[in-house]
Amino acid sequence: MDKSNWQPAPLLRGRMVEAEYNDPLIPDYQGNPFIEALPPIWSKEQVIDMLQHYPDYQEAHRQWRPELRLHLIRNVLKFFEVMPRHIDLEQLLSSMIRLGYEARNPSLHGFYRDIDARIDALLTERPLFSNLQSTALGLAVIGISGVGKSVTLGHLLTLYPQVIFHHRFRGNDFSFVQVAWLRLECPSDGTTKGLCLNFFEALDNLLGTNYVANYAHHGRDTADVMKKNMARAASLHGIGVLVIDEIQHLSTAKSGGSEQMLSFFVELINKIGMPIILVGTYKAKPLLSSEFRLARKSAGLGDFVWDSMRRDDTWKLFLESLWRYQYTQQNCPLTTRLSHTLYDVTQGITDLAVKVYMLAQARAITRGEEAITANIIRSVARDSLQMARPILDALKSGDIQELYKVDDVLPVDYDTLLRVITNKSNQPAPVRIQTEKSQGDNVPASHGSGAPQAQKPPSLTPPVKKALDAPPEQTETKVVDSLVELAVQGRKLGIPLNDLLRQNGYLPSENKQQMGGSNR
Ligand SMILES: Nc1ncnc2c1ncn2[C@@H]1O[C@H](COP(=O)(O)OP(=O)(O)OP(=O)(O)O)[C@@H](O)[C@H]1O
Ligand SMILES: [Mg+2]
Repeated sequence: MDKSNWQPAPLLRGRMVEAEYNDPLIPDYQGNPFIEALPPIWSKEQVIDMLQHYPDYQEAHRQWRPELRLHLIRNVLKFFEVMPRHIDLEQLLSSMIRLGYEARNPSLHGFYRDIDARIDALLTERPLFSNLQSTALGLAVIGISGVGKSVTLGHLLTLYPQVIFHHRFRGNDFSFVQVAWLRLECPSDGTTKGLCLNFFEALDNLLGTNYVANYAHHGRDTADVMKKNMARAASLHGIGVLVIDEIQHLSTAKSGGSEQMLSFFVELINKIGMPIILVGTYKAKPLLSSEFRLARKSAGLGDFVWDSMRRDDTWKLFLESLWRYQYTQQNCPLTTRLSHTLYDVTQGITDLAVKVYMLAQARAITRGEEAITANIIRSVARDSLQMARPILDALKSGDIQELYKVDDVLPVDYDTLLRVITNKSNQPAPVRIQTEKSQGDNVPASHGSGAPQAQKPPSLTPPVKKALDAPPEQTETKVVDSLVELAVQGRKLGIPLNDLLRQNGYLPSENKQQMGGSNR
């Protein structure tokens, strides 16, 4: 891999601050500038206060024009309700960062020599000869797609400053740029090189360094060289915790690739002393059951399993907050029936609950019904959650084993669905995809004449045009019943959803858009 075929992950940025030292009160943490520069250990109440977020809501907005209210319904995507597991995770994070620093005290004599010894021991069977044995821990946060793993970890990390500039500590010169946390995504090909490049790129973006060039030769170095350099940069910046999201991508790694990556993580924890949190869906679970689990067991920490909400007090608390963001003209109180219906169609998956509630309001507003009903909830769920069906079915039947097998939910393009729901108030009619005939295509398709008529001749976009220019026997028309299926098929065929929607008259054509036209 080199830089030409590598896409860096989006970078989560936090605050950059000058070091201010606080007494951490715990004797083992005192005298360590990395720990003293962190905020004090927060109480549960402080964490709740800092994490929860409720955008402004005004009852009077219900009487605003539909066009304005369709913007306001997006507030449901912005609120954040704190749940018990968020507090548990904060406490784990708080101890992981501080414990990891305990054995890495830069004010102790021999700190830099110790880094060299640690890096020398990396990728070898040799035990680490260091005065200080690693106190770092590893943790795997595993849960169903959409329960809120990434968003929560993002909020928790950004409570801490990300980059801390040190100059003097306890009367002595101490120049150091500490990176308290760094969040990366596992590269989609699951390679260690890709991960190392993501790591260097993230540091370069944050600190203005030149590690991609100097520590990775733009991807031309070998994986082993990059691994050692990653360990060196992690040590030289005193990284407090490394969070690696989308770890299920390791399942796409070539044979042996995932074991190699996981044993590298174990080494970073045990030899470099850097805590690591791996985040992923159930698909990652089998991968983590081998070496990494042993290492985590020896460090005394199990998995942090994150299931969808049960139909209990947490669901109630969450729904009560969600329900505040209601923009239909009629006030629709949260009834047991509505709560059960939303649970039934989303199985307590946070992401789905939030989005179905938003789309239900969009439909109620655009159809002029102006009330959230169980029927509307079911109808938008039917239209938008088809891709999540295997996961929802597995949850309904309580078959957790199935979750290990199902593919992750393809990300639903809610923006497009929202536009479609608000452009056309009726249920979408069957729509057509013109495509090249492919062998072994297992997509259920109805052919030509018997199929319902498409609404409009397609406005030709490159992949579709290519298919239509082909001789007749090489093209076929697939008729799909719902927009989500359309999205799935389009994705399989590499045709952007927007193009398909435009062809079927659900969105204005590109020409009209460029001219500022509208199809309303
Ligand atoms: N506590 C919460 N309060 C309000 N909304 C939430 C909460 N948790 C999650 N959400 C909603 O769920 C959405 C999805 O969350 P997130 O992307 O973190 O899920 P995930 O578990 O990382 O999923 P994936 O495994 O697919 O990456 C968020 O964008 C947000 O709209
Ligand atoms: Mg995520």
